Amino acid sequence: MIRDLDLKEALHKTVDVLSGGELQRFAIAVAGVQNADVYMFDEPSSYLDVKQRLKAAQVIRSLIEAQKYIIVVEHDLSVLDYLSDFICCLYGAPGAYGVVTLPFSVREGINIFLAGYIPTENMRFRKEALTFKFSETAENEEIKKHCNYKYPTMTKTQGTFSLEIKAGEFTDSEIIVMLGQNGTGKTTFIKMLAGQMPADDGAQVPELNVSYKPQKIQPKFPGTVRELIHKRIRDTFLHPQFTSDVVKPLNIENIIDQEVLNLSGGELQRVAIVLCLGQPADIYLIDEPSAYLDSEQRIVVSKVIKRFILHAGKSGFIVEHDFIMATYLADRVIVYDGIPGVKCVANAPQSLLSGMNTFLKALEITFRRDPTNYRPRINKLNSIKDMEQKNAGNYFFLDDQSTD
Ligand SMILES: Nc1ncnc2c1ncn2[C@@H]1O[C@H](COP(=O)(O)OP(=O)(O)OP(=O)(O)O)[C@@H](O)[C@H]1O
Ligand SMILES: [Mg+2]
Repeated sequence: MIRDLDLKEALHKTVDVLSGGELQRFAIAVAGVQNADVYMFDEPSSYLDVKQRLKAAQVIRSLIEAQKYIIVVEHDLSVLDYLSDFICCLYGAPGAYGVVTLPFSVREGINIFLAGYIPTENMRFRKEALTFKFSETAENEEIKKHCNYKYPTMTKTQGTFSLEIKAGEFTDSEIIVMLGQNGTGKTTFIKMLAGQMPADDGAQVPELNVSYKPQKIQPKFPGTVRELIHKRIRDTFLHPQFTSDVVKPLNIENIIDQEVLNLSGGELQRVAIVLCLGQPADIYLIDEPSAYLDSEQRIVVSKVIKRFILHAGKSGFIVEHDFIMATYLADRVIVYDGIPGVKCVANAPQSLLSGMNTFLKALEITFRRDPTNYRPRINKLNSIKDMEQKNAGNYFFLDDQSTD
């Protein structure tokens, strides 16, 4: 279990100095080594990168034995797909009441959750269905590109960590998603683009007009959300288009009079996203927008970001560990490789298909799309589809190819 959860480096540390990810993996191990009849895991994927999420899922699955039960609460739908055999959906009114459905098969359960409708009970619990169809990219609407930005090959050393960034180009109306494990330098690169950190040896990060949402949100504002928004983005906030495209879907209305310092992690994240998108800029740098959000909010946030960037003709760089969000958002991807925390390379932006193929191959995972709602699904390790796709070198599908 220590090996599977990558805990070797953490063994000599005391618990209070562990990073978020290390602590999470340690907690999974502590629950996993017990001899129990029922194991329960509450959000085991939080703070973990994609590879660690899947490893954690494998460790949890390895506990399965006849007469033993495992119950998991999870927001990352692709992990759920990989991890579970049955799914119960919970619906209701947050803060008021909740209802748990009977167990469904994995695919059925996730699709019911996305559809917002339980056929067996003829019960609708959400007005709209959530889908992953790429309608936001407006297939018949030609997107005109006007700007072309370039950055040179750069290096950045921080303590014992060194990052090499390969030169790249990007345009407006384009989202580039950064894919890499924890500690590969995604935040470092974003900060350099934001102009907060110079490159080594005088290489010039081009001066860009950016708006930046940091990964760590540390609010200091002594006032309500309304006051903060009015102070930072008053004009945009009052614009009807911004209200309908961003503010409404992110449900800011129901937290607008709360004190910023009292907001929960997810509420804070939504406010930070509104502030970031509300600030006029050419390039939006958004570091981990899905952190602290539940699966429904993640989908809403992805749609809001995608629609905003495409319609406003802006560019976006987004760091995202949630696979479904990353594939939904990305026009192209930057794949990181190397040894996390030591020496890494950020490759030039490449197409979603080739980038995902490279990234997934390194992680030994294969993906397909669900034909009902286009949701990307991870194939279970060594399943027939997994083997078939690996043999053919197709780790990732853009189009729906599966029929089950
Ligand atoms: N000021 C610093 N001094 C020394 N090392 C640093 C400093 N800042 C960052 N690092 C190290 O640089 C590496 C890359 O950090 P960075 O935050 O860019 O990673 P990341 O890819 O964003 O990771 P995550 O997915 O966990 O957010 C890490 O190993 C980190 O410990
Ligand atoms: Mg980071």
